[in-house]
Amino acid sequence: RTARFTLDPAFTVGEVNPRLFGSFVEHLGRCVYTGVFEPGHPTADADGIRQDVLDLVRELGVTAIRYPGGNFVSGYKWEDSVGPVEDRPRRLDLAWRSTETNRFGLSEYIAFLRKIGPQAEPMMAVNLGTRGVAEALELQEYANHPAGTALSDLRVEHGDKDPFGIRMWCLGNEMDGPWQTGHKTAEEYGRIAAETARAMRQIDPGVELVACGSSGQSMETFAEWEATVLKETYDLVDYISLHAYYEPLDGDVDSFLASAVDMESFIENVVATCDHVGARLKSKKKINLSFDEWNVWYLSRTEAQVSALDWPEAPRLLEDNYSVTDAVVFGSLLIALLRHADRVTVACLAQLVNVIAPIMTEPGGPAWRQTTFFPFSQASRYGRGEVLDVRVDSPTYETRKYGETDLLHATAVRADDGSVTVFAVNRGRTASLPLDVALGGLGVTSVVEHSVLSDADPDARNTLAEPERVTPHAAEGTTLADGRLSAVLEPLSWNVIRLA
Ligand code: AHR
Repeated sequence: RTARFTLDPAFTVGEVNPRLFGSFVEHLGRCVYTGVFEPGHPTADADGIRQDVLDLVRELGVTAIRYPGGNFVSGYKWEDSVGPVEDRPRRLDLAWRSTETNRFGLSEYIAFLRKIGPQAEPMMAVNLGTRGVAEALELQEYANHPAGTALSDLRVEHGDKDPFGIRMWCLGNEMDGPWQTGHKTAEEYGRIAAETARAMRQIDPGVELVACGSSGQSMETFAEWEATVLKETYDLVDYISLHAYYEPLDGDVDSFLASAVDMESFIENVVATCDHVGARLKSKKKINLSFDEWNVWYLSRTEAQVSALDWPEAPRLLEDNYSVTDAVVFGSLLIALLRHADRVTVACLAQLVNVIAPIMTEPGGPAWRQTTFFPFSQASRYGRGEVLDVRVDSPTYETRKYGETDLLHATAVRADDGSVTVFAVNRGRTASLPLDVALGGLGVTSVVEHSVLSDADPDARNTLAEPERVTPHAAEGTTLADGRLSAVLEPLSWNVIRLA
């Protein structure tokens, strides 16, 4: 049976915020050290930034980059990470049982963003695990105040004359998680988040603040956590965060392929909770969603790895090597974000380099693209504009976790120049899926490109030995005639169909 939907310019979801294509650099494993930063590497510049990585980061098309954690931030002392490198202390990083050398710090992070280009925007997290209001304010003053105070002058003395201009701030990280250093109840966190937000706004009313939501929809405290935190912070913050990671459990690949069903319901449930609190407060304000950690992550494999560590520097941690199947799920997660672009206005792919990342590196050696690199770079490139409302009529398949699920998962984005890109995933593992799209009133007349990520071997991956084993290829036979797009989606595939 053919999967179908209709696109109409009159029916839209909302404008895509470029921040939807954010990412995340945490002091974890080799994300920073030998990932982004490797003095002495053949491609490293004078600041130790790997140019091969920088080129791939630009090609990936990331915008906001969240930093420095993650769980790491709950033990973070920002002042350790500034000033002369030789004076910076080595510290225990409790989150990842590693030793943090602080050779890369706040100033290096800002310099890295500036090297990426104007599209890269800082998104800084403050430590609300082991620290509180005072330290958040000190960091804000150091980073953003122009000059003439002790901390802003210290920044200038450290060589950064220009303020960093950090606008987006995360008020802690995953404070609902028992694993978090300084874990809090919703009431405790709501109070400290509110007071930190109030004080940060006294320095600068223009900051954009993200309150911690749940670390996953399956958390026992989910929804009650958001409601409690927002009751305290509704007028003081702009966003609530969501985090979600997916992996196949017990070999259940069919449910894994439907992971976006969970992601979309998570988003819709958080929107409902935000709006419920807003209604109770009789507020006109809407809280938006910052999906600031999302990805495929073989989490069940990593837990034992971390507890076995004996405080190494930059160990190989969370270095998942992604297959074609993983990339198709990953693409579907991107589709889920785009389908909710009206309320999800920030999202960060966790993470950027080496750690559950689209970009991998070898110390002293090359950098390469994982399979997940391609859906992200294509979505960032062609997923800018107005998201069109897509309601699919699709054949279905049965999944253990989500019951009957559509084989087709899709969205479409109309750019300012009128061109339209359809992003579509065929979740079916064995059969091709014919697709028919009615394009009433869009004014597009030709297929520019139909790019596919799929492979006869769904387990194919890119590795150090074979870094270009998997790349997207062009699909045959896709046509647009009489206002109808007709295509065939290969089994287990991520598709980008560009129309003009
Ligand atoms: O991205 C890896 C970890 O996942 C982050 O440190 C934490 O916030 C989440 O649990």
